[in-house]
Amino acid sequence: MSLERFLKFQAQTSTHPFVVEVDRAEGSFIYDKHGKSYLDFIAGVSACPLGHNNPKVVSAIKEQLDKYLHVMVYGEFVQDAPVALAELMAEHMPQPLQTTYFTNSGTEAIEGAIKLSKRYTGRAEIISAINAYHGNTMGSMSVMGYENRKRAFRPLIPGINFIEFNNEKDIEKITKSTASVILETIQGGAGFVEPKNNYLLKVKKRCEEVGALLILDEIQPGIGRTGKLFGFQNYGVVPDIVVTGKGLGGGMPIGAFTSSKKMMDCLMDNPKLGHITTFGGHPVIAAAALATLKEITSSDLIPRTLEKEKFVRNYLKHPLIHEIRGKGLMLAAMLPNSELASEVILECKNRGLLLFWLLFEGKALRITPPLTISIKELKKGCDIIIDVLNNLKQ
Ligand SMILES: Cc1ncc(COP(=O)(O)O)c(C=O)c1O
Repeated sequence: MSLERFLKFQAQTSTHPFVVEVDRAEGSFIYDKHGKSYLDFIAGVSACPLGHNNPKVVSAIKEQLDKYLHVMVYGEFVQDAPVALAELMAEHMPQPLQTTYFTNSGTEAIEGAIKLSKRYTGRAEIISAINAYHGNTMGSMSVMGYENRKRAFRPLIPGINFIEFNNEKDIEKITKSTASVILETIQGGAGFVEPKNNYLLKVKKRCEEVGALLILDEIQPGIGRTGKLFGFQNYGVVPDIVVTGKGLGGGMPIGAFTSSKKMMDCLMDNPKLGHITTFGGHPVIAAAALATLKEITSSDLIPRTLEKEKFVRNYLKHPLIHEIRGKGLMLAAMLPNSELASEVILECKNRGLLLFWLLFEGKALRITPPLTISIKELKKGCDIIIDVLNNLKQ
């Protein structure tokens, strides 16, 4: 009944939604209305680092609910939760990344970062990467490097040029006309592609030479998923603007962009109100994010992510898995073709394991469980994948 209503009344994004009729969720598991449990290797597409219904996050939300909800648009009133969250982010970010602007979603934070780079440099060109994904609003879609998914929505914003991720020759295309280069620290939709041979450092050096800014999109790799709080810390680079989202909210909707105070101050003046939002920095969301960030930065979850990666790499072995890409708990098991990957994802779901697709790379099995997952749970999920691969129909 509720499936029919979902299909009838709720806007659909594809002709084949994944469909789990959710009843409740806890830790690494989601339970459906028919009494079935699913081990969750998706974590809300990397958005639930502390698993489902983490008690610390839930109680922070409840505490804030009892005080106040929305009271004013972004940037006018002093509210404890967003201030403490911005301060904690500053504590964990390298200099000079000390000032954070909160938005309602990742894509909105990307929009803010692009605007900030244009406003700060006074330049118009934005350079992005082929196969990049940064979100679905018009600006973010303009810097998406996958023509098939954006052709129908043209015209998009002008002045966007593309380089190939990890191609050092292409770095020369960054010039004195470039406001910013926007890159995912690890390309997500493209297939969990890591930067190689100090690529990000080389891009940053070129940006410095020509006065362009480097924006790193940490919406997916950020908040502990890759064995460091921010993915860029694995590669020795400090961007000019960092964009976060997803996992920062611990299961609540958030986005954020962080830069130096000097840079961010551009948005106050000329024109004033250079970037505004009604709900960005919402106290309930900020309380959830604060509890999430506190837990992730004060526990051993981040280093244990690397142990868990090691476990998956050692244990998830099968002749049909020719590569495991990614870092920490941002992993993609690569199969020979997309038909096989889809068959495995759907059969694993039947068997009570949630895996998912990547946006532009059909051959991948997404493995992005909560950071709180246990080795025992990881083993259970890997056993299901191996068993499904051993019993394929194709
Ligand atoms: C790398 C990256 N950037 C941006 C976004 C957009 O974030 P949101 O869906 O919260 O707008 C996503 C979401 O999948 C993402 O993975």
